[in-house]
Amino acid sequence: MPRKDPLHTKLCDSLGIEYPIVAFTHCKDVAAAAINAGAFAVLGQTQCTPEQIVANVRWLREHIGGKKFGIDLVFPASVPEQASVDELVAQIPAEQKAYAEDIARRHNLPEPKKRPEIYDLGWMEKSRALRQLEVALEERIPVVASGLGNPGFFVEAAHARGMQVWGLVGRQRQAKRELEAGVDAIIAQGNDAAGHTGNVGTFSIVPQVRAIAGDTPVIAAGGVTTGRHLAGAIALGAAGVWTGTLWLASRESDVDMRVKELLIKATGDDTRYSDCVSGFTMRTLDCQWHREWARPEAPRPAPAPYQLLLFGKIKQSAFDWDRREFMTEAAGQGVGFITTMKPVRQIVSDMVDEFYDAMADVCGEDD
Ligand SMILES: Cc1cc2nc3c(=O)[nH]c(=O)nc-3n(C[C@H](O)[C@H](O)[C@H](O)COP(=O)(O)O)c2cc1C
Repeated sequence: MPRKDPLHTKLCDSLGIEYPIVAFTHCKDVAAAAINAGAFAVLGQTQCTPEQIVANVRWLREHIGGKKFGIDLVFPASVPEQASVDELVAQIPAEQKAYAEDIARRHNLPEPKKRPEIYDLGWMEKSRALRQLEVALEERIPVVASGLGNPGFFVEAAHARGMQVWGLVGRQRQAKRELEAGVDAIIAQGNDAAGHTGNVGTFSIVPQVRAIAGDTPVIAAGGVTTGRHLAGAIALGAAGVWTGTLWLASRESDVDMRVKELLIKATGDDTRYSDCVSGFTMRTLDCQWHREWARPEAPRPAPAPYQLLLFGKIKQSAFDWDRREFMTEAAGQGVGFITTMKPVRQIVSDMVDEFYDAMADVCGEDD
């Protein structure tokens, strides 16, 4: 075994955490539990109003006793400056709208009972993302991560307030731009990951980014769901891991129980990488919607955010009418390793135990 604890990385020092495991989650309870278990958490706030962000951050602060945490925002270039959701719905391209309506008709999927939840997503307007950022700066949130778009434009303002800025990238040249802009950590995410992600696999992108990162910590993302993945990430040159899928079926997670069941059942082969859900390529659990857009007669999906508005309506119907074949969730290829609903603390401790087992295997120790 190496003399220095390989799990105690520079990320642990800079964040004051025990384990270099970052939980990305939309659920405050998961975030608090992960932080209190010695990991770090970044709360996805893209879908929140500035007022909700303030309330969520204050709640989290009350539940983690002075420990650090982060939030995630996105700054995509290709969404309108400002537009109401109803205006966007009215602008959905006719061909894709007709195809989505045809899918619903052929599958006997009724209209949703409620307004689709997805209609109130924050990332549909640039101006809203900037208002979200303003409150992040006012609240001096210890880490602001940008899941999409170069965060370089707010690095100076964040540093002036003692905050860290992280950028999530899927390509080496994107990493170079963000490193030049002065980010404090770079998340190198591979194609295995849940959600919006690039073409390059985790095994390639992590060492590619590490090769140009100098002293800036690299955090590996994409498919990380076990301690062996964590050991692999550290060996590839990462100072920690950024994980999303891992927490979705946890006991504390607020994900719908029907989706938790789908996640627990899924194998690594049950995810699809497609732009049919949001208009950007993203990895999600396979469902009937994917199969419909893969048919030869299907049109190309509409660009973002229109495709997400189309899917959002179908998704709402699926939940309202309990039509599981149309239910999906962002999920990475590591979903196959999620086989039970565990409490967050146990997920963290299992990952740490597996990490040391993996290291013992590598170093040839009997344990
Ligand atoms: C349900 C879900 C929703 C996500 N939403 C966002 C998001 O709003 N913003 C973001 O930057 N990343 C989002 N992601 C991606 C995660 O931040 C992370 O990059 C990804 O989950 C890592 O891959 P893994 O799931 O294989 O661990 C989401 C992931 C999941 C599973």
